Amino acid sequence: MTIRRNQGFIHPHASDITPQAIYQSRRELIRLMAGGAAGAALAAWAGREALAQQVARPGKLAPLPGAKSAVAGATTMEKVTAYQDASTYNNFYEFGTDKSDPARNAHTLKTSPWTVEISGLVKKPGKYAIEDLLKLSAQEERIYRMRCVEGWSMVIPWVGYSLAELIRRVEPQPGAKYVEFLTQADPKTMPFVGSRVLDWPYAEGLRMDEAMHPLTLLAFGMYGEVLPNQNGAPVRLVVPWKYGFKSAKSLVAIRFTDKQPGTAWNKAAANEYGFYSNVNPDVDHPRWSQATERRIGEDGLFARKRKTLMFNGYEAQVGQLYAGMDLKKNY
Ligand code: MTE
Repeated sequence: MTIRRNQGFIHPHASDITPQAIYQSRRELIRLMAGGAAGAALAAWAGREALAQQVARPGKLAPLPGAKSAVAGATTMEKVTAYQDASTYNNFYEFGTDKSDPARNAHTLKTSPWTVEISGLVKKPGKYAIEDLLKLSAQEERIYRMRCVEGWSMVIPWVGYSLAELIRRVEPQPGAKYVEFLTQADPKTMPFVGSRVLDWPYAEGLRMDEAMHPLTLLAFGMYGEVLPNQNGAPVRLVVPWKYGFKSAKSLVAIRFTDKQPGTAWNKAAANEYGFYSNVNPDVDHPRWSQATERRIGEDGLFARKRKTLMFNGYEAQVGQLYAGMDLKKNY
């Protein structure tokens, strides 16, 4: 540590001050080292520090202001996750399977021109240019808890509008029971499309009432700016009561069907990822407990785990959608 002298006072330079979370993490590390349990913990800590060094915040993106949403449950008083974390710790398998790969690789994604095709059981099918989709309804800011099936969570201020706004415009036919979401799969701009890890394009699905729920968001931005590529630019789905993987990124097609559509993760491992994938602390994933979660960024080195809430804390808003369903079978 260097101490600078200035006008007779001695004060540390800003970069000399260790943030409290890191300081506490180090103390914890030392305690565990004394107990001989530091190996994995040290690796995890070093990994996070290295990631923060390697991936800088992308430059300022275009502003996308949204009025505060009046939708019930669309905001939370919980501390918002740092932009740096939300934009560098991602799952976007088209750009690699490591959490830092999307931030490193997604600059090749070409987000303009971009169209989203609406098809299937609707009275008004068609293609929407992203510019028209952006203007279709007023943008709102929604601060949502996001919970990944792998056991971590974030709190993110999204900007967009309810998917229901778009669905009403295209007038689903009475037979439409489900909505399928297909995402961009361009091997020229997405280096891992074609890898055997998933079936491409990445696909997701919702039941019609889930898709129409006002909390289901068509998101164009986050933190008051347009989405960075790694978070699913130029348009993605955000379904806050379901595990993160239901929130398909870089959407290119929305199809209305009478049959439950296949989804990328269900096809990859049906016993691990069901169609519903509601956040549920009582139903564990075969490899990960779902009872608790680690909040990215706030947790220092050794996360004091939080209890995961039923439907990710949105039970009052969405519980009714699943009344009478056996959620152990419909996981
Ligand atoms: N969408 C596409 N097209 N490809 C993906 O690999 N990953 C999903 C989901 N949407 C994924 C995707 C998973 S597993 C998660 S947890 C979330 O995106 C992560 O979103 P975030 O990186 O914005 O937090």
